[in-house]
Amino acid sequence: MSEPTLPTWENVKVEFEDGIAWVTLNRPDKRNAMSPALNREMMSVLDTLEVDDRCKVLVLTGAGDSFSAGMDIKEYFREVDKATPVGVMRVQRESMGWQWRRLMFFPKPTIAMVNGWCFGGAFTPLVSCDLAVAADEAMFGLSEINWGIIPAGNVTRAVAEKMTQADAQYYLLTGEQFSGKKAAETRLVYESVPRAQLRTRVTEIARVLMAKNPHVLSAVKLAYRRVKDMSWDVSEDYLYAKAQQTYSTDPEQGRKHGMDQFLDEKSYRPGLQNYRREDKK
Ligand code: ACO
Repeated sequence: MSEPTLPTWENVKVEFEDGIAWVTLNRPDKRNAMSPALNREMMSVLDTLEVDDRCKVLVLTGAGDSFSAGMDIKEYFREVDKATPVGVMRVQRESMGWQWRRLMFFPKPTIAMVNGWCFGGAFTPLVSCDLAVAADEAMFGLSEINWGIIPAGNVTRAVAEKMTQADAQYYLLTGEQFSGKKAAETRLVYESVPRAQLRTRVTEIARVLMAKNPHVLSAVKLAYRRVKDMSWDVSEDYLYAKAQQTYSTDPEQGRKHGMDQFLDEKSYRPGLQNYRREDKK
């Protein structure tokens, strides 16, 4: 069967490779600054990849020497200042629509691969990915304070979610840049590696994820995002219900095979590896 044709996107490049969809913000001349047009396209990219089987794991990265220089100061701010209030709301809705609403709850695992500059608004999609790996040499900055705005676009919320409090407050207030290594120390990203090894390391992590039961993996990531804002009582109820829904709708019936292979066949140990999936798909 022929592979589905992708829509044409001007500001984003999508390439498939062995289950990974490499999604590249593609305005290298503008350091991949996020314009209204790019934001609109990213909504379409996520809608498309959600139902494309070639995407098992989504990796978000940037073209050239930049992950993203944040919101496009000309096209997202100066030009939109002239729009009507409804026009402004529309542009903001499209931006937030993908940068956290859609990306955070994307049903497949996501990895941010921070290859270079990462400023301001770029922190929102960064934190909305499940995992993030940076190049040691990447440079981050909450630069809003340097040009007289507060980190909106949910950047302050994103930073409060991921960075340690001392680091968040220091970098929000000073606008000072920090490296990929420092980003890993503050837990903004999971780890940093030399730039030359970045793609290999991200591919390695993606392969680990692709070896898991995808139905259950999706439920694990979504449940994590949901319960963080719930009380213990509500999350207990939600998680039992979610667990039951997950195994009763699992096409692979992983829970049953996992138990059979451990308890009856004694052929694997759940603490040490995945159950055997090849004959269960
Ligand atoms: N918005 C709009 N255009 C941008 C942005 C941006 N965020 N970042 C870079 N560009 C454009 C520049 O205007 C320039 O365009 P031009 O070639 O048409 O003049 C081009 O990209 C290259 O930028 P340089 O500054 O020349 O690139 P350099 O490699 O020297 O520096 C750096 C890169 C450090 C990222 C610098 O461009 C910069 O400071 N950008 C702004 C970063 C920032 O503060 N982002 C936060 C925005 S606020 C927010 O996101 C909420």
